[in-house]
Amino acid sequence: MKGKGSMRLFSDSVGRKAVMAITGLLMVLFVVGHLLGNLTIFAGQNGINAYATKLHELAPLVWGTRIVMAVSVVLHVVLAVVITLENSRAKPVKYAVSRSLKATFASKNMIWTGAVIGLFVAYHLIQFTFRLSGGIFTDLVLGEDALKRFDVFAMVVNAFRTPGVAATYVVAMVALFLHLVHGIQSSFQTLGLSNPKLMPRWGQLGNVASAAFLVGFGAIPVVIFFGLIAR
Ligand code: HEM
Repeated sequence: MKGKGSMRLFSDSVGRKAVMAITGLLMVLFVVGHLLGNLTIFAGQNGINAYATKLHELAPLVWGTRIVMAVSVVLHVVLAVVITLENSRAKPVKYAVSRSLKATFASKNMIWTGAVIGLFVAYHLIQFTFRLSGGIFTDLVLGEDALKRFDVFAMVVNAFRTPGVAATYVVAMVALFLHLVHGIQSSFQTLGLSNPKLMPRWGQLGNVASAAFLVGFGAIPVVIFFGLIAR
């Protein structure tokens, strides 16, 4: 039933994969920005509080990003479930495009690493964006610093002193690493940006970016938990 030349975005398997790739890469862009912002925590209380205050002053940027991310995450999750169910029904068919990539632990477990990331983001939003205190979200420290700015530093540092919270973040970062090690290169391949010369380059880019996310994000709970950044 597939039109040969036309790619129907949500009904064709190729179209679906393209939407997965584009929404995935948009979310990766957010993660890059978020990592760069979070690294200001290494500049101490003033560093991250100044950054967070500035960011929240840029309301159109914040809200524009939130809307694009919300649409991306819904499309990405719904299509992930559809594609996974289809694949499990029609095992031998698979996608021609994924054939040239070696099946690895990461590529075979995309739905599971994705599910862990989804659960993590829900937990993370409830904790640091909606700032629900207590229970598994720990008792949040919600105060202001000497300059009357919201004290993101105190909130984050206090939360990561709790072993369960720090461990949850580290586990989630490992899932993110596995997801993106396959996801980034697969996205470029799906979008037709691959040829025998470029494909290894996308693979390298995916590996370097995923490793940077693992080390960069992962360092924050670890360093705080061991008291190397403290209030
Ligand atoms: C050590 C790792 C991380 C730390 C310390 C951290 C910290 C924070 C903080 C403090 C906020 C609230 C910002 C504010 O309202 O001022 C936030 C929001 C958020 N974080 Fe993270 N984050 C981390 C990792 C991640 C990862 C890996 C993802 C995605 C995979 C993520 C996704 C988000 C999202 C979607 C928001 C909501 C942004 C908004 O619309 O306000 N975070 N994060």
